[in-house]
Amino acid sequence: MPNVDLMDPPAARETPAPEPEVSPAPLPTVKLRLANVSKTYQSATQTGEALAPLDMEVEEGECVVIFGPSGCGKSTLLNLIAGFEPPTTGEITLGGKPVTKPGSDRLMMFQEHALFPWLNVIRNVMYGLKNERGFRFRPWKQREAARSWLELMHMEEFETALVHELSGGMKQRIALARALAPDPKVLLIDEPFPALDALTKTKLYGDLQEILVRTKKTIISVTHDPREAACLGDRVVIFTPRPGKIQREIRVDLPRPRDINAAEVGEYAAQIMAELESQSDEKHPD
Ligand SMILES: Nc1ncnc2c1ncn2[C@@H]1O[C@H](COP(=O)(O)OP(=O)(O)OP(=O)(O)O)[C@@H](O)[C@H]1O
Ligand SMILES: [Mg+2]
Repeated sequence: MPNVDLMDPPAARETPAPEPEVSPAPLPTVKLRLANVSKTYQSATQTGEALAPLDMEVEEGECVVIFGPSGCGKSTLLNLIAGFEPPTTGEITLGGKPVTKPGSDRLMMFQEHALFPWLNVIRNVMYGLKNERGFRFRPWKQREAARSWLELMHMEEFETALVHELSGGMKQRIALARALAPDPKVLLIDEPFPALDALTKTKLYGDLQEILVRTKKTIISVTHDPREAACLGDRVVIFTPRPGKIQREIRVDLPRPRDINAAEVGEYAAQIMAELESQSDEKHPD
């Protein structure tokens, strides 16, 4: 009969049974993190601080709207996140990786639609699928992917149209489809619909919200318009005048899709506007 005591190692006998592991509740993923990021422009004659050091975090699937007076550094901030230029201080990381140059994980939709006039609508969208090494998919797959984005933008009927045959609102829809086609992790939108009439804007904001709900894209958008900010943002970050820094954040707690003309959106817009007006009260006290 074997001696059981000799077979069992003493450590195993003394160690109590391990407690069952309790996994902590998962924290929301922080997709984009800006730590102590600032920007100072230096020209031959002067130095100008565009952005004061700021910290900001954007979670996956969140839509953050940057709102502030002209010249407060909103476009500068998007340019830094896009990697078009480096910050003067601090670091920007996306999914833990430092942002050092432009990449297809962060795409910008500019104020100007920037479509190619020599390509038709679907080819403009397919162009978005091209990367440094050429096209990522076979042509039929590119066409299929581009078509699905055109459908989402309600532009499928116009796939063979040329750019000059489109209205301003249609061009912006195609530009949005092209920016979304490569499936960027973060979509940066710099005042996309400034020169459009109210009805077209209302429709485009409806489309953008559909995209938010369907694709759960992470979006950072810039606007001057408090109603647009309240309609689109999960969070509105209000900047001070130049050099821009964060004055206040307002969380917009309204279900989607939101109607830009709804009274509740108007209430948030009034709150955002009041914050901007408090900046000029501080500058010009009675
Ligand atoms: N490349 C540059 N060289 C020098 N100064 C710059 C450059 N880009 C921006 N600036 C300056 O930085 C400041 C912020 O500019 P930015 O374009 O970011 O403002 P903005 O908030 O986007 O304004 P707007 O609402 O009018 O578009 C401005 O004073 C601008 O003159
Ligand atoms: Mg700007």
